[in-house]
Amino acid sequence: MITPTGLRERLGAAPIVPVLTVGSASHAEPLAQALLNGGLASAEVTLRTPVALEVIEIMKQVAPELIVGAGTICHARDVEAAHKAGADFLVSPGTSPELIGALKQFEGVVLPGVASASEAMTLYEQGFGVLKFFPAEAAGGAPFLKSLSGPLPHIEFMPTGGIKPHNVGDYLALPNVIAAGGTWLASPSEMAEGAWQMIETRVSACVQLCKRVPV
Ligand code: 3PG
Repeated sequence: MITPTGLRERLGAAPIVPVLTVGSASHAEPLAQALLNGGLASAEVTLRTPVALEVIEIMKQVAPELIVGAGTICHARDVEAAHKAGADFLVSPGTSPELIGALKQFEGVVLPGVASASEAMTLYEQGFGVLKFFPAEAAGGAPFLKSLSGPLPHIEFMPTGGIKPHNVGDYLALPNVIAAGGTWLASPSEMAEGAWQMIETRVSACVQLCKRVPV
């Protein structure tokens, strides 16, 4: 199982996590290939479609080198389902006491969602050192995370929500950001059209863009 340090290392020079809502299991293999060919090391598959868990399973089979996470973890039962599917990491939009209990049982990396200093401090006390900052742009954006880095330098974040090529660099320049995520890299309609080459080209351009950002 991957650790936060392992995740940081594997994300390397292009710390971008594509947030993927995948509508068909048949998309899993070409999507994984497009991400890897474009230079990415990870993917977050949201549990928002009936095939999401199957997609995670297939991605891990056909591209074992890809770090595959399960996103939109909202219920305790999602944690067990994602574990069974082989997810390397879990991402939730927020937390509840019941969900926190279940997340603690997961052996890989867990990024619970927060949008305030108090939530971040509470989850850190519970053992979660890397958190999803969501919804990033709506909740204060990069200036908010920069403000937290002073009093809370020990807490790290993966922001998602409203992040696109024009603002991703603002986040990646911060010392408390390990990666940034977003849906802009591959949309459900592009996947349905089989636009794998276009997705790969966009991923590759994003990797180049983010490499220029000092981290
Ligand atoms: C999500 O869970 O939908 C992510 O935060 C991605 O948001 P985005 O569509 O604004 O990139």
